[in-house]
Amino acid sequence: MLNIVLFGPPGAGKGTQSEKLIEKYNLTHLSTGDLFRKHLGEGTSLGKLAKQYMNEGKLVPDEVVIGMVEEKIKETSNSEGFIFDGFPRTVAQAEALDEMLSALGMEISGMIALDVPEEILKERIRERGKTSGRVDDQDEGKIATRIKVYLDETLPVASYYENQGKLTKIHGVGTIEDIFGDISNVIDQY
Ligand code: AP5
Ligand code: MG
Repeated sequence: MLNIVLFGPPGAGKGTQSEKLIEKYNLTHLSTGDLFRKHLGEGTSLGKLAKQYMNEGKLVPDEVVIGMVEEKIKETSNSEGFIFDGFPRTVAQAEALDEMLSALGMEISGMIALDVPEEILKERIRERGKTSGRVDDQDEGKIATRIKVYLDETLPVASYYENQGKLTKIHGVGTIEDIFGDISNVIDQY
């Protein structure tokens, strides 16, 4: 099985690359952001809870995220593997993921981290905000909060996988195809 954590700051291209990777490697895309937005759209109680955090660019509490991921992994047990996109976002989430996978006889193959300078991230998010309908894409303060939260709370997750010898960094600026090629080269080594 291939279980890949695709990591990077907001706007790094995680969702864009995930779409291509699931096709090429026949994987299940597990994006916590997309799952929350689905709940939000359907007006579920989970969606209502998550909305308060998402619209401010803050993290949804760990226990809520972990419960949702666990459910999704269990209902997709016959998959050839997962691309985790936007999860884990805290060290507590990373630890919980390791436990969940090990209980199922699975493990993370590796983390691929997309490296993109802050100014380019902001430009991409502003541009997407014109059409995405995402409240968190349309306000300079919220974009800045998301980047700060990433630096303060999420970046330590890269060290967590580095300590396990599982981190590979990729330059995330260039054409989508070139970056996809670089990521594929890493995955082909797993
Ligand atoms: P989430 O949905 O995960 O958002 P994010 O991390 O802010 O990342 P984005 O989806 O904005 O960016 P991306 O890296 O996917 O880039 P994309 O491919 O879209 O999370 C949203 C919120 O949900 C969080 O703030 C939090 O509240 C909550 N949440 C989610 N997961 C959570 C968790 N685990 N714990 C707690 N809370 C959680 O690309 C961006 C743009 O750039 C696109 O327009 C794209 O077309 C363009 N682009 C992509 N690649 C390139 C390229 N190479 N060149 C030029 N443009 C490009
Ligand atoms: Mg995304």
